[in-house]
This record gives sequence, C-alpha cells and structure tokens, in this order.
Amino acid sequence: MKPTNSPKTYRVKSFGCQMNVYDGERMAEMLGEQGIVPAPEGEDADLVVLNTCHIREKAAEKVYSDIGRISKAGAEAGKQPLIAVAGCVAQAEGEEIMKRSPAVSMVVGPQAYHRLPEMLDKAVKGERATDTDMPAIAKFAALPERRRTNPASFLTIQEGCDKFCTYCVVPYTRGAEISRPYSDLVIEAKKLVDAGAKEITLLGQNVSAWSGENDKGHKVGLAGLIRDLAKVEGLARIRYTTSHPADMDDDLIAAHGDTPKLMPFLHLPVQAGSDRVLKAMNRSHTAESYLRLLERFRAARADLALSGDFIVGFPGESDAEFEETLALVDEVEYAQAFSFKYSPRPGTPAATMDDQIAREVMDERLQRLQAALNRDQMAFNHASVGKTCEVLVERKGKHPGQWLGKSPWLQSVWFEGDAAIGDLVQVELVEAGPNSLAGKLCEMAVV
Ligand code: 5AD
Ligand code: SF4
Repeated sequence: MKPTNSPKTYRVKSFGCQMNVYDGERMAEMLGEQGIVPAPEGEDADLVVLNTCHIREKAAEKVYSDIGRISKAGAEAGKQPLIAVAGCVAQAEGEEIMKRSPAVSMVVGPQAYHRLPEMLDKAVKGERATDTDMPAIAKFAALPERRRTNPASFLTIQEGCDKFCTYCVVPYTRGAEISRPYSDLVIEAKKLVDAGAKEITLLGQNVSAWSGENDKGHKVGLAGLIRDLAKVEGLARIRYTTSHPADMDDDLIAAHGDTPKLMPFLHLPVQAGSDRVLKAMNRSHTAESYLRLLERFRAARADLALSGDFIVGFPGESDAEFEETLALVDEVEYAQAFSFKYSPRPGTPAATMDDQIAREVMDERLQRLQAALNRDQMAFNHASVGKTCEVLVERKGKHPGQWLGKSPWLQSVWFEGDAAIGDLVQVELVEAGPNSLAGKLCEMAVV
C-alpha cells in the first residue's frame, strides 16, 4: 500500500549507544521543524524511524522483525506508516534492507540523516531513497538549533574511530575520526543550557581524540574544551564518553583535578585482562599500562568512580586468559561496567580468526564476570551510604512525590520531597541497592 499523505506524526526508536540517542533526538528535532509531531503514547505513528545499532549480534534480525511488526500493524489498521531505517545497520546493510523489505522507503546512514527531510518528500511521493554517504561534518551544520532538551543532555563532539580494534564494526559504520569545530560546540552547549540542560555529556566513539582550535586560534584537546565549557553559565556538570586508553593525555587527567564541574566518573573500556588477547584485539594498551593510567586518574581525583567495557570469548581466549580479566576486575573495583559476549561482526578481522569460542564457554565466562562486576557495583553503592551529595533530578519516580536523579558518580538516586525536574538538590544517601540508592532530601539552608 502506497502512503498518499504527508506524515503528521512520527516515532523515533533508537537502539544501542548514547550517540544513537543523540542522533535520534536530532532527527526528531528535524521532523519537528517539518511540522510533524511525536505520536501520542500507544498510538501508531505515520512515520517510524528505526535508528539501529550494529555493534553486536542480531541487530539486523531485530530490524527485520521490527519492520515486519510495523507493517503488519499497518495492514491491520489499513494505513501503512512510512518506515525509515537509520543508524549503523542502515550504513552496513542498507542495500540489502531495501531489497528485502519493500515496506521500507528510506535508508539513511548516521552521517547522512540531515537529508531525511528531502528523502521524506520523495517517500511521500512513493519513491524509495537510500543515503549512506559519509560527508564528515556537513550533517551538523544542516541540523536545526537545539530548542528542547533534558536536564542531562548529550552533545556529540566527535564521530568515527581510527582505532580498528579487530572485533569492532564502528570504524566501518561510523567512518574515520572527525572532530566537530570548537565554536560549534560552544554554541550548541549554550543552546542546550538555554533550553534547560544542567548537565552535558560530551559524546564520541573515541571522544578523547577530539581536537580543535579555540577562539584565540590555539589548538585544544578534550581537556581544553571541558575547561571552556565549564565557563558556560548555568551548566553545572560535564561528563564525557567513550574514551580509549591510548588517547588519555596528562591534560585530561589534570582536568579531573582542576575542573569541579567535570564529574568524578570515568568510563574507560579495557575489554580484557590478558595482554595476548589485547594484542589480538589490536588494543594498544596492556593490562599493566591500563592499571597505571587509572592510578594517575585516581591521583588527580581521589573519589573517581570507574566504569569499563569487557568482551568475553574473543577468538582464542583461553581459560587462563579469561582469569586475567577477572584478576584485573578485582584490582580495579569498578563502580559499574558493561560486559558482552564476543560477537563476530561481518567484515571485521576477528570474525575470520581461528578458534572461535563455543557459546557455552562464553555464557559461563560472562556469568562469572558479571557476578564479579555486580559484587563491586554493590560494594561501591554500599560505600556511598552516609554521604551527602548533589543529585540532578531527571524525572519523576514511580510513586507520587518521588524523584529520580543521578549522583556525581552516575548512580541512580531516588528520594521523596519537594523538588522538580532539573533541580540540583543535596541528598543524603541512606540505602544501597544493586542498581540504585535511596536518598533523603536535605533541608535547604534558609538564608
Ligand atoms: N562483540 C562484542 N562486544 C563488542 N563491542 C564492540 N564490538 C563488539 C563485538 N564484536 C563492545 C566493546 C565496546 C562496546 C561499545 O561494545 O566492549 O567497548
Ligand atoms: Fe570500536 Fe572503540 Fe575500538 Fe574504536 S576504539 S574500534 S569504537 S572498540
């Protein structure tokens, strides 16, 4: 069934990383500029954007089943929505999607989504369009101004990756590393603050590789950008993610000590604890160099909470090598972490390596690793009980009068009392759970 009318409502469904969340928000803003509004909760949208992720298994299958479900619902309702597939699956498998799924009328890669409105014009006329060009920075200039945001918002400052870890698809789907210009970022950060942001997380696949030229013409790295953004009035908190151990320079370490608005949190993926596995992954660090780096960060900011990413079952990983990952975890004591079973990604060097690990072995390793990470997360949360800290209120809790926000260490904290979304409040942490803490709102000082 060919759609005949321009869409009035949209739904953007983002999967995967925070960069996809950011891209999803920007696509939504663009559609808003076209006069299309978000579909009310529970109602079918006239336009569905599937903003996909390709980093691990079953991504493509998930997209096809989503497309199937959406078109079935459309057929039942007698009105097919327009479907756009965006994100990294679109980039990697766009042509295949167009061939296999006639219900899809737009395929748009992560560097091309600023062209969505033109593609939509065509789609409304029944024409199908694919755009998976990678025109580096053009996208950002073509996007509308930021007018609405959450108290904790994202700002993509860097895209792409030149690291080519042998398991990873990102260098192929997101392309080569590019840094957005300094002045654009300062402007976007100010707009976000004007729109209500209190916290900004600077995003990039390899955010620590960001570099630019400041308004005085001096070359600056991530630390310089953070220090300058810290001067933006009304902005209370800065975070950044994700970094690579190879690009963490002295200045960034120092910024954790000298910039109070930079939150005491570092997400620094290590992936594995065995040097042989790390080499086969084409990571340029060893377990030891990673640990020494963390020591330097902790010396700059004693209360730094650490987070990481892990892959278990990389091709050829022996039991003894996996034990080295557990030993590293024991040594670091992460506040939180993400862990995954290795998933062969088409086109990456590791996918064709000998000695792929059996599923049962990966399952068992993942369970053991997650048990250790959960233990440390719980211990970290317990150790926070009794502290009073600032919480940024992000949303209402389940019960009336309840609020949910984040501590400086990125823990979810809920509390009751007189507050509003966007408030920065002092909360005493009174009880720890595995994934959140209960807090008590402190009396505000009456002046
Ligand atoms: N298999 C499993 N996990 C992966 N990651 C990236 N590629 C793969 C893969 N092929 C994980 C890494 C990375 C995180 C974003 O996803 O841990 O840091
Ligand atoms: Fe992928 Fe991160 Fe390695 Fe880049 S640094 S190739 S994004 S895992």
